Amino acid sequence: MTSAPGAADGWLLETRGLTKQFGGLVAVDGLPLTLRAGEVRGLIGPNGSGKTTTVNLLSGLYRADAGEIRLRGERIDRLPPHLITARGVARTFQIPKLFGNMTVLENAMVPALAAIDLGRPRPRADILDRARRLLALLTLDEKRHDVAKELSGGQSMLLQIARGLMVSPIHLFLMDEPFAGVHPSIKDTIMETILQMNRAEGVTFLIVSHEMATLRRLCPSVSVMHEGQLIAEGSFEEIANHAVVVEAYLGR
Ligand SMILES: Nc1ncnc2c1ncn2[C@@H]1O[C@H](COP(=O)(O)OP(=O)(O)OP(=O)(O)O)[C@@H](O)[C@H]1O
Ligand SMILES: [Mg+2]
Repeated sequence: MTSAPGAADGWLLETRGLTKQFGGLVAVDGLPLTLRAGEVRGLIGPNGSGKTTTVNLLSGLYRADAGEIRLRGERIDRLPPHLITARGVARTFQIPKLFGNMTVLENAMVPALAAIDLGRPRPRADILDRARRLLALLTLDEKRHDVAKELSGGQSMLLQIARGLMVSPIHLFLMDEPFAGVHPSIKDTIMETILQMNRAEGVTFLIVSHEMATLRRLCPSVSVMHEGQLIAEGSFEEIANHAVVVEAYLGR
């Protein structure tokens, strides 16, 4: 018996020919993106290059017009978002999506409720323990009984991250601009959390950001998009010397 493509060669995520159009605009154009289990990968590119659309495709929010997405060798590109989450893919949104009238702790526990709905309940004590530990890691534990709408923008990002890490088991975390507009101390908390969860639990990250200095500290390698296409990939040193990348950023 042969295993599914991708599973055997160590890819956690593999896209082929991934394409999304909006009318005449090809926002993501035949993207081949591969992530190894345990990577912390950056995804960069000028405004409008297709990064958010890529995250929306990977998380099932958008359906691809062409191409495929495999997670651990299995196709996920026809699954609805909640079933992609159930396979261990979490995400954050640039504009936080939280339940404003629910508490911080309740928001963090939403993925555990979803697991109950899918017939995969987890012990109550485990859920609470995990939620409290994640809220502590993200410096939100003292706010756990506050309603989410009272949080600042940065704190809302921290809560989105705690909630994503409540997905169990968590394999891949997609983050869209997690550092945009947040206070430097919150930025440090986010960076430490990413590194800690990567080290301790092997969580793979794909981080979309315009903050090169931050990404350089987090990501051994980055993928560069331009006009929907993957134009370069490698370490910061490698891509900085890449003529096409320089041209994409500086214009022709
Ligand atoms: N829902 C949509 N409907 C129509 N066009 C869209 C939609 N979402 C994105 N686009 C277009 O697709 C292209 C890629 O957008 P996308 O948001 O993926 O870029 P991005 O790389 O995330 O940019 P930024 O760095 O500004 O966030 C842009 O031209 C954008 O205007
Ligand atoms: Mg974007």
